[in-house]
Amino acid sequence: MKILIANLICLLLVVKPSLQLLETQADVLFILDTSGSIGKANFTIMKNTAANIAGQFKISKKDTQVGVDVFSTGFRTEIKLKSLNLIQLLRYFIKRIPYGSGGTKTYLALDHARESSFTKKNGDRPGIQNIALVMTDGGSDNQQRTCIAARRLRNEGEGCMIISIPIGKINEKELECIEDDISLRFAAPNFAALRKRPFRKSIAQKILTVSRPGRG
Ligand SMILES: *[C@@H]1O[C@H](CO)[C@@H](O)[C@H](O)[C@H]1NC(C)=O
Repeated sequence: MKILIANLICLLLVVKPSLQLLETQADVLFILDTSGSIGKANFTIMKNTAANIAGQFKISKKDTQVGVDVFSTGFRTEIKLKSLNLIQLLRYFIKRIPYGSGGTKTYLALDHARESSFTKKNGDRPGIQNIALVMTDGGSDNQQRTCIAARRLRNEGEGCMIISIPIGKINEKELECIEDDISLRFAAPNFAALRKRPFRKSIAQKILTVSRPGRG
């Protein structure tokens, strides 16, 4: 615990916020695939990408909130929308998310997002755009269930914009039913491509645009 606190204090002192933070109101949930095909090193790239995108925004209870869920054969909330409103802590805890293994039950994560992560209890703010970023390296193990779960997440309750970030091989049919619109797809040919700054910036810009309809 002492070491953890010392680490956190260092982080707060050392990590300066970027000069120009993006300001908007959005509830942003990263849904990360930790299935066996990804491998630990690639999962680290995935987490760093999520942390980087989050770090481009002004994070607070009044601005952008960020949460993280993970899935493979099961699913789990790692960071609730309401939990961390300090970017340094958010980055720190995103990077500590453990790697899993197992299958790709994307639909369980999409259902969990709708039923739990995007609920008021866990920090969802009514009237503020919900955005889920789904990062996975392949198709789910049940396309039909994934399509149904994605449609429900997009349309039920307050609704949610789903941005897909497929890495590597593309499962076109499944992506089409996850997305509202192909402009919400950011395909990376491989994990190395996730590290590119323009790629990360373009995703952040998209979040900005869809969270401020009419102004983007
Ligand atoms: C990481 O992903 C790349 C493709 O983007 C793949 O070639 C490599 O084998 C993966 N690494 C591991 C450890 O699975």
